[in-house]
Amino acid sequence: KPSAYGASTAGKPLDIISLDRLDTAVQEVIPEAGYQFVSGAAGDEWTLRENRRAFDDFRIEPKRLRGVSSDVDLSIDLLGQTLPFPIFTAPMGAHGMVHEEAEVATARGTGMAGTLYCSSGASHRTLEEIAEATQGPKWFQLYWNNDIEVTKSLLKRAKDAGYSAIVLTADALGPGMPDDFKAMGAPFRQDMVFGNHDPERGGSGNFFDQKVDLDLDAIKFIKDQTGLPVVVKGLLRGDDADRCIGAGADAIQVSNHGGRQIDGVPASIAALPDVAHAVNGRVPVILDSGVRRGIDVIRALAMGANAVAVGRPVMYGLGLGGAQGVQSVLEHLGQDLRSAMLLTGAAKLSDLDPSYINLVGPSA
Ligand code: FNR
Repeated sequence: KPSAYGASTAGKPLDIISLDRLDTAVQEVIPEAGYQFVSGAAGDEWTLRENRRAFDDFRIEPKRLRGVSSDVDLSIDLLGQTLPFPIFTAPMGAHGMVHEEAEVATARGTGMAGTLYCSSGASHRTLEEIAEATQGPKWFQLYWNNDIEVTKSLLKRAKDAGYSAIVLTADALGPGMPDDFKAMGAPFRQDMVFGNHDPERGGSGNFFDQKVDLDLDAIKFIKDQTGLPVVVKGLLRGDDADRCIGAGADAIQVSNHGGRQIDGVPASIAALPDVAHAVNGRVPVILDSGVRRGIDVIRALAMGANAVAVGRPVMYGLGLGGAQGVQSVLEHLGQDLRSAMLLTGAAKLSDLDPSYINLVGPSA
């Protein structure tokens, strides 16, 4: 186990039984501070637990003798990008707390799995380095900065670096800080100033101290600056989704930030039906927070999502195996979805609809 702030240098494929089991294994290879930062969530962590529990309220009602084959096509088109399966890497900051190669390895590993890397505005490496590291599709997640020149500069750099969409995170007006991480003095690595900060070109390095006023005008501003599609991430309400689409949003990401921002809000999967109903097929819907198994993807897609994003398990794959570990995590979930499709009796992704779900329990 590396010393105090020595993050992992691992580089190997992983033999994965389930993503939940990575949680224990990773604690052996990454520093305590890195583990607390990644695994923790806000407050009492009720929402964190609920993100897993609430999937159980959505019982799968499998269909039998439907001639379903195992070579089902799992690929999707998402805002013009082709993904091999409807699963991609959620934007996460500060990968240097987990692995010495930081986001460069995560982006490369995600590209090796052929899927989409969403680059966090709070990355340790620069958005240009990260863009170069992946062969796959890539989006840039923006932390809005009230210094409009900083925001403009980030958007221009993201466009120049080849990112094909901008993700506007709407639920984080400061970093998510779990209690256990705060108790350690929030020990972000001193040698890793947030990589997008550049005194001349501007950056997001000071976003911790930012006062952020975010409203619907941000959507049009980003579109005008970049000409790229805008994904609004962090919505839990149908009326918010409707307002964002009215303001020009090209996709909605239902998310509670993995329970890291405000505790006491519903699980993403519990909020999905209301959002999907409001969106009514006008734009793609993405869901994140608590997705760990193929059956979770089935439930999200059946309830109206077009794709899911995964956070912490990707970080654990990074710690345990570097880029190859990240690839293993994403491919494992893709394989798990394939067998879940077969056992659910769905011949293709577009067959998944609410008829496969029986909603019972507290989310009903
Ligand atoms: C995040 N998340 C996040 N989201 C975002 O929009 N910008 C960011 O910089 C970060 N940073 C971040 C760091 C870490 C360590 C984690 C775990 C998460 C939230 C992320 O995009 C996603 O919403 C959740 O991680 C999804 O929940 P699961 O899959 O981790 O349960």
